[in-house]
Amino acid sequence: MTTQLSTDPMVDPRADDSAVWLARRAGVPAVWARYTDLVVDHGQGSWIVTHDGDRYLDYTCGIGVTNTGHAHPRVAAAIAEQAGKIIHAQQNILYHKPGLELHERLPRTFPGARPDDDIGLFLSNSGAEAVEAAVKLAKVATHRPAVVAFRGGFHGRTHGTMSLTSSAIKNRGHYEPLLAGVYFAPYPYPLRNPTGQTDADALAWTRSQLDELFATLVAPEDVAAFVVEPVLGEGGYVVPPDGFLPMLRDIADRHGILLAVDEVQSGYGRTGRFFATEWSGARPDIVIMAKGIASGLPLSGILAPRELLDRFAPGGHGGTYGGNAVSCAAAVATLDVFEEEGLSARAEVLGKRLLDGLRAAAAGHPHVAEVRGRGLMVGIEFADPETLGPRPDLAKAVITEALIGRLLLLSCGTWGQVVRVIPPLVTTEDEIDLAVRVIGAALRAVDPA
Ligand SMILES: Cc1ncc(COP(=O)(O)O)c(C=O)c1O
Repeated sequence: MTTQLSTDPMVDPRADDSAVWLARRAGVPAVWARYTDLVVDHGQGSWIVTHDGDRYLDYTCGIGVTNTGHAHPRVAAAIAEQAGKIIHAQQNILYHKPGLELHERLPRTFPGARPDDDIGLFLSNSGAEAVEAAVKLAKVATHRPAVVAFRGGFHGRTHGTMSLTSSAIKNRGHYEPLLAGVYFAPYPYPLRNPTGQTDADALAWTRSQLDELFATLVAPEDVAAFVVEPVLGEGGYVVPPDGFLPMLRDIADRHGILLAVDEVQSGYGRTGRFFATEWSGARPDIVIMAKGIASGLPLSGILAPRELLDRFAPGGHGGTYGGNAVSCAAAVATLDVFEEEGLSARAEVLGKRLLDGLRAAAAGHPHVAEVRGRGLMVGIEFADPETLGPRPDLAKAVITEALIGRLLLLSCGTWGQVVRVIPPLVTTEDEIDLAVRVIGAALRAVDPA
């Protein structure tokens, strides 16, 4: 473990424990609502280690980012090597090797891509920026003003992406007026569907609400794009019925609407396919990605057929840092790790173990309404068994208990009523079993069966 000595005369310069560093947290603003007060020193694989030397199993993955685990040696080496050569080689001014390699390799991951497809890639920094790029592209390409998003969706915290977001009021409340021309339809959410809890009920409800939207609020000819998460992330880890994206594809085709899939959280192997869209068989027009793309360095992007992407005129979009050389080197190494370690397939297999384990652990607990997920994207929803009234208090209590058991978890869902479990894709069977045991004990403590 490396020891970094404090230079603050107010603290003992020999001390390096968490308390010393925590005493210096006053400058961190409260807007970063916190899950823990842990001060991390380093991480490796599925684990983080604090300044006190305590180890925690990290099943938050930095909110679904560190899919290759912490400090994967291959990624860390690529970052170090590139940082020693050139850090910032701005896209409008220079080409660089990792960027060029990424522009060749990432387009091959486009869902449903055929070998002769010409897919292009635009790189930016954050998920929100990539969503912004997708919406701007859809507008410039279609010359249409409106966008349809889905209730419960989360697309980012910029003004534009906040306007497409409806996962929780904290993400958009008090910031009005928001972007004009954004309309919402319900995301198919079987557990909370008003007309019945089967997949077919939920799909039919979404369909009917889309029809009504087009009959009452916005003409489909005015809609540039559907922006949709293939698996609802912040909104509660909801896996939609398989027919959802094909249904949107069909409607989009009939009205000249573009289908933009926001794979920021569901992508990069998380669900057992490189992109979760692949499960549906639907071919999107735009794929939005971030989070796992560079194993933790800021990088995001959109993929689209080149004839669509080139509707951006030169200079019509861009950014200072997009396609940063060190981030691109990390992204190339990340793709190498995915290929060599078969991470998407691994997520499918380990995801089944996690889901089965958690379902068994949750069986009989009265307030567990559902344990659901796809691959290593798993949520446990807490609700009143009679009314389905959300129980965020229980989700929070389970997360707190798990933290005591040295397991890091997050919540999601509109009310924070879902515990989400996001292991790195390099996690092991033993680690999954350990997490299931810790969560099982937490459930027994807060919601006795
Ligand atoms: C589906 C989805 N889209 C967009 C974003 C925004 O990404 P970022 O926080 O990198 O801007 C997120 C972040 O959680 C997300 O889950």
